[in-house]
Amino acid sequence: MGNSHSTDTPRHSSLPNIPVIERSSPALKFPRSITSQNSSSLSLSGNSKFSSAGKLSLDSLPVSSIHPLQNGSSLLAPSIKSPGSSRRNSFSSFRVTTSPEPEKYVWIAGKRFHNVEGSGYLFPCDDEEIDRMHLQHFMVRFAIQGNYLAPVSDSLRNGAAVLDVGCGPGSWTMEIAGEYPKSEVVGIDMTSMFPTEIKPINCQFMRTNILEKLPFDDDSFDFIFMRFIQMGIEEEQWDTVLEELVRVAKPGAYIELVESDLERYRVGPCIANFDKRLTESLKARNMDPYVARRLDQLLIRHGLVNVKKRFISSPAGEWAGKLGQLTLQSWKAKAEALKPQLCMSWNTTQEQYESLMNACLSEADIHKSYENIHFAYGQKPILQRT
Ligand SMILES: C[S@@+](CC[C@H](N)C(=O)[O-])C[C@H]1O[C@@H](n2cnc3c(N)ncnc32)[C@H](O)[C@@H]1O
Repeated sequence: MGNSHSTDTPRHSSLPNIPVIERSSPALKFPRSITSQNSSSLSLSGNSKFSSAGKLSLDSLPVSSIHPLQNGSSLLAPSIKSPGSSRRNSFSSFRVTTSPEPEKYVWIAGKRFHNVEGSGYLFPCDDEEIDRMHLQHFMVRFAIQGNYLAPVSDSLRNGAAVLDVGCGPGSWTMEIAGEYPKSEVVGIDMTSMFPTEIKPINCQFMRTNILEKLPFDDDSFDFIFMRFIQMGIEEEQWDTVLEELVRVAKPGAYIELVESDLERYRVGPCIANFDKRLTESLKARNMDPYVARRLDQLLIRHGLVNVKKRFISSPAGEWAGKLGQLTLQSWKAKAEALKPQLCMSWNTTQEQYESLMNACLSEADIHKSYENIHFAYGQKPILQRT
């Protein structure tokens, strides 16, 4: 993979009087907006005008899959349910423990947020958030023309045990399961925004807090993927999370981490202001706004070998074609999703926040703004017998 830093000097970067309501509610049952229309309208044909900001090389990138739900088909099967149990299931290589206790939520300014003890995750868990995550997934897939960068295609084709950590609605999880029917894919997340009924037969989901010990045996997975979870992990928690990922990875397995740099580049004053304040808010929550830039260091520190890193620049705005449109839509959805928490943190009104947000969005085209998305992967060493 290529070098990791933009030539732009990276600069860096807490939540007004909005009522907070606490209550419990049933889990969401189905993902939204995984429809043929949505997926195909974001299909992978064509090149964007992304080169002026881009650093992407498409060498040896995997070809992306079509979402299994698009095919309508034999891949779809009812989920295996076993509430509250610990069991060996059709996934022969690892043990799965389901989470029996009901999910708890808090409502802030009309948006539903998880209420998981010990987690300061900033994004909501509602229908709009599910849409946002699908959109972000399509954007990245379009940008890298694939779903991962680690050299695991052969392993996936031959049948691998795959773990998607913080899987959200399971967009990535289900695509991998659909594309590699011999593989067994598990998605874990602290909120069940993932599908419980309609999903590929070789795919399952479970509710798990990744800040705790993972419910899998040692050496269970051939490929572990964790993307866009930085707003849920405090700086000193990364090591604990990585330790667990390495524990459940088989010797020789790859672990791939993907995060976007919160500082956007070639920006106008409004985006600069937004990013600076967001950075400060994250720091106030003990989160590292720049963790994307050191993903490779995390992997190395946890003993992984053959570590590689790369970043891509994803441009936002009409000036940058389809990827530009997707990225700008993603920026808008992200700013909307963060509104309740950031209005509180910044002690600002929703009207003030929206006015800044709209100014940011119109700046993107003027300045040809872009963001960097960082990828790093590495391999758990194979122990040599002496
Ligand atoms: C931005 S979404 C990314 C979803 C998916 N990885 C993707 O790239 O499309 C981050 C996900 O991490 C989950 N998450 C945050 N903190 C978590 C934790 N402590 N344990 C499990 N999941 C967590 C959130 O619920 C959310 O679904």
